[in-house]
Amino acid sequence: MADEITINSDRFTLYLSEEQIRAKVKELATQINSDYRGRVPIFIGILNGSFIFFSDLIREVAVDCEVDFLKLSSYGDAKISSGQVRLLKDLNCQVRGRDIVVVEDIIDSGLSIDFMKRLVMRENPASFRVVTLLLKKTVAKLDFSIDYVGFEIPPEFVIGYGLDYAQKVRNLKSIYRLAPKEPGLAPKETRATSAAGGI
Ligand code: IMP
Ligand code: MG
Repeated sequence: MADEITINSDRFTLYLSEEQIRAKVKELATQINSDYRGRVPIFIGILNGSFIFFSDLIREVAVDCEVDFLKLSSYGDAKISSGQVRLLKDLNCQVRGRDIVVVEDIIDSGLSIDFMKRLVMRENPASFRVVTLLLKKTVAKLDFSIDYVGFEIPPEFVIGYGLDYAQKVRNLKSIYRLAPKEPGLAPKETRATSAAGGI
Protein backbone atom coordinates (compact mmCIF):
# COMPACT_ATOMS: atom_id res chain seq x y z
CA MET A 1 0.00 0.00 0.00
CA ALA A 2 1.24 3.49 -0.85
CA ASP A 3 2.53 5.67 1.99
CA GLU A 4 1.48 8.80 0.20
CA ILE A 5 -1.09 9.73 -2.44
CA THR A 6 -1.92 12.98 -4.22
CA ILE A 7 -5.46 13.91 -5.20
CA ASN A 8 -6.18 17.18 -7.03
CA SER A 9 -2.72 18.39 -5.89
CA ASP A 10 -3.60 17.72 -2.21
CA ARG A 11 -1.09 15.38 -0.57
CA PHE A 12 -2.35 12.65 1.79
CA THR A 13 -0.16 10.43 3.98
CA LEU A 14 -0.92 6.97 5.35
CA TYR A 15 -2.58 7.25 8.75
CA LEU A 16 -4.23 3.93 9.64
CA SER A 17 -3.16 0.76 7.83
CA GLU A 18 -5.42 -2.11 6.78
CA GLU A 19 -3.96 -4.20 9.63
CA GLN A 20 -4.62 -1.52 12.26
CA ILE A 21 -8.19 -1.09 11.03
CA ARG A 22 -8.82 -4.85 10.92
CA ALA A 23 -7.57 -5.32 14.49
CA LYS A 24 -9.72 -2.43 15.73
CA VAL A 25 -12.85 -3.72 13.98
CA LYS A 26 -12.34 -7.11 15.70
CA GLU A 27 -11.88 -5.41 19.07
CA LEU A 28 -15.09 -3.38 18.67
CA ALA A 29 -17.06 -6.46 17.54
CA THR A 30 -15.80 -8.48 20.52
CA GLN A 31 -17.15 -5.84 22.88
CA ILE A 32 -20.46 -5.62 21.01
CA ASN A 33 -20.82 -9.43 20.97
CA SER A 34 -20.40 -9.53 24.71
CA ASP A 35 -22.76 -6.57 25.37
CA TYR A 36 -25.56 -7.86 23.11
CA ARG A 37 -25.43 -11.57 23.98
CA GLY A 38 -28.99 -12.97 23.89
CA ARG A 39 -30.43 -9.87 22.18
CA VAL A 40 -31.23 -9.16 18.54
CA PRO A 41 -30.01 -5.64 17.78
CA ILE A 42 -30.66 -3.70 14.59
CA PHE A 43 -27.45 -2.25 13.16
CA ILE A 44 -28.17 0.97 11.29
CA GLY A 45 -25.49 2.16 8.89
CA ILE A 46 -25.32 5.81 7.94
CA LEU A 47 -24.67 6.06 4.21
CA ASN A 48 -22.53 6.61 2.34
CA GLY A 49 -19.42 6.81 4.51
CA SER A 50 -20.03 3.85 6.83
CA PHE A 51 -20.62 1.17 4.19
CA ILE A 52 -17.16 -0.42 4.32
CA PHE A 53 -16.76 -0.24 8.11
CA PHE A 54 -20.33 -1.53 8.45
CA SER A 55 -19.74 -4.56 6.25
CA ASP A 56 -16.47 -5.45 7.98
CA LEU A 57 -17.95 -4.98 11.46
CA ILE A 58 -21.15 -6.90 10.81
CA ARG A 59 -19.16 -9.95 9.66
CA GLU A 60 -17.43 -10.01 13.04
CA VAL A 61 -20.75 -9.75 14.90
CA ALA A 62 -21.73 -13.14 16.27
CA VAL A 63 -25.17 -12.36 17.77
CA ASP A 64 -28.42 -12.59 15.79
CA CYS A 65 -29.01 -9.18 14.26
CA GLU A 66 -30.79 -7.19 11.58
CA VAL A 67 -29.48 -4.37 9.42
CA ASP A 68 -30.90 -1.19 7.95
CA PHE A 69 -29.51 1.96 6.37
CA LEU A 70 -30.18 5.64 6.50
CA LYS A 71 -28.72 8.22 4.20
CA LEU A 72 -27.67 11.63 5.44
CA SER A 73 -25.79 14.41 3.78
CA SER A 74 -23.86 17.23 5.43
CA TYR A 75 -20.62 17.63 3.50
CA GLY A 76 -21.56 18.04 -0.14
CA ASP A 77 -18.24 17.88 -1.96
CA ALA A 78 -16.28 20.03 0.47
CA LYS A 79 -13.65 19.22 3.11
CA ILE A 80 -15.64 20.90 5.88
CA SER A 81 -19.17 20.25 7.05
CA SER A 82 -21.90 22.44 5.59
CA GLY A 83 -23.40 22.62 9.09
CA GLN A 84 -26.73 21.33 7.83
CA VAL A 85 -27.91 17.75 7.85
CA ARG A 86 -30.38 16.50 5.27
CA LEU A 87 -32.23 13.18 5.38
CA LEU A 88 -31.82 11.58 1.95
CA LYS A 89 -33.14 8.09 2.78
CA ASP A 90 -35.23 7.14 5.80
CA LEU A 91 -35.22 3.86 7.75
CA ASN A 92 -37.36 0.90 6.71
CA CYS A 93 -37.26 -0.97 10.01
CA GLN A 94 -39.55 -0.72 13.05
CA VAL A 95 -37.47 0.88 15.79
CA ARG A 96 -40.00 0.69 18.64
CA GLY A 97 -38.87 -1.63 21.41
CA ARG A 98 -35.68 -2.67 19.58
CA ASP A 99 -32.00 -2.40 20.49
CA ILE A 100 -30.51 0.05 18.00
CA VAL A 101 -26.81 0.27 17.20
CA VAL A 102 -25.93 3.10 14.84
CA VAL A 103 -22.77 2.56 12.81
CA GLU A 104 -20.82 5.66 11.76
CA ASP A 105 -17.56 5.99 9.86
CA ILE A 106 -16.51 9.21 11.55
CA ILE A 107 -17.96 11.77 13.96
CA ASP A 108 -16.70 15.25 13.20
CA SER A 109 -18.97 18.14 14.26
CA GLY A 110 -21.42 15.64 15.76
CA LEU A 111 -24.33 17.16 13.82
CA SER A 112 -25.13 13.99 11.88
CA ILE A 113 -25.15 11.67 14.87
CA ASP A 114 -27.16 14.18 16.90
CA PHE A 115 -29.73 14.36 14.08
CA MET A 116 -29.77 10.56 13.88
CA LYS A 117 -30.26 10.12 17.62
CA ARG A 118 -33.24 12.48 17.68
CA LEU A 119 -34.80 10.69 14.73
CA VAL A 120 -34.45 7.24 16.35
CA MET A 121 -35.44 8.30 19.88
CA ARG A 122 -38.79 9.63 18.59
CA GLU A 123 -39.69 6.00 17.79
CA ASN A 124 -38.99 4.72 21.34
CA PRO A 125 -36.29 2.08 20.88
CA ALA A 126 -35.48 -0.25 23.81
CA SER A 127 -31.91 1.06 23.69
CA PHE A 128 -29.71 3.28 21.54
CA ARG A 129 -25.96 3.00 21.12
CA VAL A 130 -23.43 4.33 18.65
CA VAL A 131 -20.31 2.72 17.24
CA THR A 132 -17.95 4.89 15.23
CA LEU A 133 -14.62 3.96 13.72
CA LEU A 134 -13.23 7.49 14.08
CA LEU A 135 -14.00 10.35 16.44
CA LYS A 136 -12.69 13.91 16.19
CA LYS A 137 -13.27 14.49 19.88
CA THR A 138 -11.98 18.04 19.96
CA VAL A 139 -14.54 19.08 17.31
CA ALA A 140 -17.62 17.07 18.24
CA LYS A 141 -20.18 18.93 20.32
CA LEU A 142 -22.41 16.26 21.82
CA ASP A 143 -24.53 16.07 24.94
CA PHE A 144 -24.30 12.27 24.97
CA SER A 145 -21.33 9.92 24.90
CA ILE A 146 -20.33 7.63 22.05
CA ASP A 147 -20.46 4.04 23.25
CA TYR A 148 -17.86 2.37 21.01
CA VAL A 149 -15.01 4.38 19.49
CA GLY A 150 -12.37 2.86 17.24
CA PHE A 151 -9.81 5.66 17.09
CA GLU A 152 -9.87 9.18 18.51
CA ILE A 153 -8.17 11.34 15.92
CA PRO A 154 -7.05 14.99 15.69
CA PRO A 155 -9.31 17.40 13.78
CA GLU A 156 -7.80 16.65 10.38
CA PHE A 157 -9.38 15.68 7.07
CA VAL A 158 -9.10 11.94 6.44
CA ILE A 159 -10.01 9.77 3.46
CA GLY A 160 -10.31 6.11 2.45
CA TYR A 161 -12.03 3.02 3.88
CA GLY A 162 -15.42 4.52 2.99
CA LEU A 163 -14.52 8.17 3.61
CA ASP A 164 -14.60 10.30 0.51
CA TYR A 165 -12.99 13.36 -0.96
CA ALA A 166 -15.58 14.89 -3.32
CA GLN A 167 -17.23 11.43 -3.52
CA LYS A 168 -14.02 9.70 -4.64
CA VAL A 169 -11.39 7.47 -2.94
CA ARG A 170 -13.88 5.61 -0.73
CA ASN A 171 -12.36 2.39 -2.10
CA LEU A 172 -8.91 2.95 -0.58
CA LYS A 173 -8.15 0.07 1.79
CA SER A 174 -6.34 2.24 4.36
CA ILE A 175 -7.07 5.64 5.88
CA TYR A 176 -4.99 8.65 4.81
CA ARG A 177 -4.81 12.15 6.26
CA LEU A 178 -4.34 15.45 4.53
CA ALA A 179 -0.71 16.51 4.82
CA PRO A 180 0.03 20.14 5.68
CA LYS A 181 1.08 22.24 2.67
CA GLU A 182 4.82 22.83 2.45
CA PRO A 183 5.21 26.55 3.17
CA GLY A 184 6.86 28.72 0.53
CA LEU A 185 7.09 26.00 -2.11
CA ALA A 186 5.31 26.05 -5.42
CA PRO A 187 3.18 22.98 -6.22
CA LYS A 188 5.26 19.99 -7.42
CA GLU A 189 3.92 20.13 -10.98
CA THR A 190 5.09 23.76 -11.38
CA ARG A 191 8.57 22.96 -10.02
CA ALA A 192 8.96 19.96 -12.31
CA THR A 193 7.89 21.99 -15.32
CA SER A 194 10.28 24.87 -14.70
CA ALA A 195 13.15 22.48 -13.94
CA ALA A 196 12.53 20.85 -17.30
CA GLY A 197 12.87 24.19 -19.06
CA GLY A 198 9.20 25.05 -19.42
CA ILE A 199 8.08 21.91 -21.27
P1 IMP B 1 -20.47 15.46 11.31
O1 IMP B 1 -21.94 15.62 11.07
O2 IMP B 1 -19.72 16.76 11.18
O3 IMP B 1 -20.13 14.74 12.59
O4 IMP B 1 -19.88 14.63 10.11
C1 IMP B 1 -20.39 13.43 9.81
C2 IMP B 1 -20.09 12.94 8.42
O5 IMP B 1 -19.26 13.80 7.64
C3 IMP B 1 -19.32 11.65 8.54
O6 IMP B 1 -20.18 10.58 8.73
C4 IMP B 1 -18.57 11.60 7.24
O7 IMP B 1 -19.37 10.98 6.26
C5 IMP B 1 -18.30 13.05 6.93
N1 IMP B 1 -16.94 13.43 7.40
C6 IMP B 1 -16.59 13.99 8.59
N2 IMP B 1 -15.27 14.17 8.69
C7 IMP B 1 -14.75 13.69 7.52
C8 IMP B 1 -13.38 13.57 7.04
O8 IMP B 1 -12.38 13.93 7.68
N3 IMP B 1 -13.27 13.02 5.79
C9 IMP B 1 -14.33 12.59 5.04
N4 IMP B 1 -15.60 12.67 5.47
C10 IMP B 1 -15.80 13.21 6.70
MG1 MG C 1 -20.85 9.21 7.61
